[in-house]
Amino acid sequence: MPDTTAYTDILVADPAPHVRQITMNRPKQLNALSANHLNEIVAALELAAEDDEVRAVVLTGGEKVFAAGADLTEMAKRDIATTLKGTRDRAWEGVRKFPKPLIAAVNGYALGGGCEIAMHCDIIIAGDTAKFGQPEVNVGIMPGAGGTQRLARTVGKSLAMKMVLAGEMIDAESALRAGLAVEVVPHEMAVERALRLAATIAQKPPIAVRLAKEAVLKSYDMTLENGLDFERRAFTILLATADMKEGVAAFLEKRKPTFQGR
Ligand code: CAA
Repeated sequence: MPDTTAYTDILVADPAPHVRQITMNRPKQLNALSANHLNEIVAALELAAEDDEVRAVVLTGGEKVFAAGADLTEMAKRDIATTLKGTRDRAWEGVRKFPKPLIAAVNGYALGGGCEIAMHCDIIIAGDTAKFGQPEVNVGIMPGAGGTQRLARTVGKSLAMKMVLAGEMIDAESALRAGLAVEVVPHEMAVERALRLAATIAQKPPIAVRLAKEAVLKSYDMTLENGLDFERRAFTILLATADMKEGVAAFLEKRKPTFQGR
């Protein structure tokens, strides 16, 4: 079990074998991502990355709200010199580089940095109350944690422009149609569905899962040829793992495999 006493803005639990749940927990501020809140999420992800027992992580805000973006109270005080130090950018880098499967369970608002942190996740499960948006333009700024790039690549130019330029939100069904969310479920089921998916992934061979995640993400910033090359090398590495031998042996012996992450 993780030590959760160090956190004030998140809850951390291991609700199923090999599955960690990180719950954003600043309900009064609609889970606005203050520096401390984001840093705690990143610290929890770092611990999850280090812990061999953890094979998949669910990030959620619970049943009511995912996250309403950067904390505007803090942002009001931020100046250029502080921003240029890059502390927040490095925190986002910590989310981006998380190497294990990360599933977002989104209910209610996922706005600004909230939408961006959902898009940092590998899979988004939306509750039927989910609302995704990049409303930064309403407060005189623009997305700054990957929103313009990830949204355009995921939902296409026109919808991305509508969300980023007009600040309009989309609901769960629109997010599903646009490919931002992979499933829409009743809001009270979103966390449970994400946990079940995480549990399914957690039963797979961890090294294969890790390399497969990396390979899919490479498709965002590599040419097809380089991506295929990466895939081939990753595939070749997996042929040398004990889990591959176990997986094939279990199939041939008609039994369930037990993967060790070796
Ligand atoms: N930062 C700080 N506090 C926030 C917040 C935020 N982003 N969003 C909501 N809150 C606070 C409100 O100030 C309010 O606090 P009080 O009760 O103390 O007044 C509380 O949460 C509840 O909010 P509302 O009363 O506004 O609730 P609502 O249901 O009427 O509206 C909302 C909900 C549409 C999400 C609205 O709160 C809102 O528009 N929030 C701001 C969303 C936003 O602009 N996000 C982008 C921020 S910039 C960013 O994200 C950039 C980045 O990371 C790179």
